[in-house]
Amino acid sequence: MNLKLHNVPADPWELLHEWLPSNENPERPVVTVATVGLDGIPDARTQLLSEYDEHGFYIHEDSRSRKVAQLAANPGAAIVARFPEEARQLVIQGLAEVASAEEQARAYANRSEYLQQLAWQNTIEFASLPQEDRIESWAAFKAAHADGIGQPPTWIGHLIRPLRLSFWIGSAETASRRVDYTRASVTDPQWTVKLLAG
Ligand SMILES: Cc1cc2nc3c(=O)[nH]c(=O)nc-3n(C[C@H](O)[C@H](O)[C@H](O)COP(=O)(O)O)c2cc1C
Repeated sequence: MNLKLHNVPADPWELLHEWLPSNENPERPVVTVATVGLDGIPDARTQLLSEYDEHGFYIHEDSRSRKVAQLAANPGAAIVARFPEEARQLVIQGLAEVASAEEQARAYANRSEYLQQLAWQNTIEFASLPQEDRIESWAAFKAAHADGIGQPPTWIGHLIRPLRLSFWIGSAETASRRVDYTRASVTDPQWTVKLLAG
């Protein structure tokens, strides 16, 4: 990528369209999502990036999970996506809010059957069962829902609206560098772009 400050797109979404698979692609990017723990210590976990649009980035989870309580207490979040084949890293900082019901339903419908079932059976009670019982109960649930698995009431999604987007570009022949977009608020249409050391 032959980027100079004068030819870096003013709108980070131009680069995002180049870097991220389209929402229709069933292979979803596996990302790290960081939140602020209720004790103030950063927390992080792997998630699928369900989709993205001009508002931001959508992730989905169980409403009883730790990360959901953390985001309710402090909407600050970060996402790290790594694309090792392309020597690229994307770091996003932003503010999370609960996604619309329509978006949550779309994301659930787009999940594989395995992940739809997981959204029902991913509980502490289920995790505590002996493995044979877990396999048996999983198969029984699957057989009982051969016509499709509806969305559980615990399914929730968040939209992370970006404040900063940092596109890291590596090179085997020279130093890595970053194209860094920042803005003052999540509704500000004006981005400040800088080239930074990698
Ligand atoms: C490849 C991979 C993808 C995952 N995708 C999700 C996801 O999309 N949503 C989710 O809630 N958890 C996902 N998980 C599980 C989380 O990493 C995590 O263990 C779980 O959500 C509990 O996190 P919490 O206790 O921080 O809330 C995924 C794990 C892996 C390894």
